[in-house]
Amino acid sequence: MNKKVYIAMSADFIHDGHMNVIEEGAKYGDVIIGLLTDEAIATYKRVPLLNYETRKRIFENIKNVKEVVKQETLDYTENLRSIKPDYVIHGDDWQKGIQSTIREKVIEVLSEWGGKLIEVPYTMGHTSTNLEEEYRSLTNTPDNRRSKLKKLLKLKPYISVMEASNGLTGLIVEHAKEENITTSRTKEFDAMWVSSLCDSTFKGKPDIELVDLTSRINTINEIMEVTTKPIILDGDTGGKIEHFAYNVKTLERLGVSAIIIEDKTGLKKNSLFGTEVKQTLDDPDNFAAKIRAGKAALATRDFMIFARLESLIAGKGIDDALMRADKYLEAGADGIMIHSKEKDGQEIKDFLKQFRKKYKAVPVILVPTSYNQYTEEELHEWGADIIIHANHLLRSAYPAMMKTAKTILKNGRSKEADEYCMSIKEILTLIPGGK
Ligand code: SPV
Ligand code: MG
Repeated sequence: MNKKVYIAMSADFIHDGHMNVIEEGAKYGDVIIGLLTDEAIATYKRVPLLNYETRKRIFENIKNVKEVVKQETLDYTENLRSIKPDYVIHGDDWQKGIQSTIREKVIEVLSEWGGKLIEVPYTMGHTSTNLEEEYRSLTNTPDNRRSKLKKLLKLKPYISVMEASNGLTGLIVEHAKEENITTSRTKEFDAMWVSSLCDSTFKGKPDIELVDLTSRINTINEIMEVTTKPIILDGDTGGKIEHFAYNVKTLERLGVSAIIIEDKTGLKKNSLFGTEVKQTLDDPDNFAAKIRAGKAALATRDFMIFARLESLIAGKGIDDALMRADKYLEAGADGIMIHSKEKDGQEIKDFLKQFRKKYKAVPVILVPTSYNQYTEEELHEWGADIIIHANHLLRSAYPAMMKTAKTILKNGRSKEADEYCMSIKEILTLIPGGK
């Protein structure tokens, strides 16, 4: 019997680096490809451009590949123990960095039956990551971008969203990465939140629906020009029903993935004021009619309208929120957002307990600004699918800028502020292409 050679791949892009590994593997025996599932790729990278079935067909038609099997996690252990390959082949690039823990585990498991790890020299300049960056910007069409949020909802247990209010903060949300060497996972934000509070505040205006849609669209375009992740727009109250039906079409055409509108009426005030200010809830049937009109106007199945329940913000309690959720979902809302300014998160937890008895699969969004002692993982356990960090880039930037401004005033020169500033070299090269 021929020797068994196991090679794990995600291979969203197939390049000569993959072929080198496969050719090398074929020298040792029959090549079995452990192909990562879409869920596994979405968890450690982003939504794959080619789905599992397509990638499987490609590999099955490559000379030297004997068989393709599913690998459902980054960890090889389960597949290795069931296949018991004589060899595992991998590029030597995983000896250092994020994948090194996975590598150690592979060596350990292989040793159970005397299997061996063979490493082939890493092909510089042909990493999937380089190709992926290029390909993503080429395929960054409105259709592609719009559909990403729904795909993510299918593939990931929950979605982590961060505020983006202009091109620069958009770039932070697009590129910020946190590598966890123990789990071998790289964490990134999945999507961007264009907040009314932050969009208004960056313009020096109050968050009272004063910044009009034309201006909000300028912000969205600015972000879209330089990023590829899906965008969720804070649509405030959504305005008049007749206007909303037009506006969702515009947003859909641009490639926005979702809008959230809140069931308030009159002069909108930020929810985090709670009942310190007048918060008037809309008539639930009127708000349901707005959702119905918005859904009827859409041209695609990808664009989503979320109904934001403000009952807890207005002090009307959980039963009012549940009654409204029924009406909005019946009107066609794709999901709900439930908001609260309470610090202990209890009313959110209680609401979700009730809500999930009736609606198992309806997407739920939380904005845990007040109750941020809970992790995304914990909020997901409560029943959340999308967690939005709504204003933290703005809130961290402002005090830093004020400190620098005051330091310069105090000293009559900027030398003392240097320690708070990135270097000129860094800022000049922050955005590629400026030189
Ligand atoms: C926003 O970010 O503008 C929001 C969320 O609407 S909150 O400020 O918490 O109301
Ligand atoms: Mg808002």
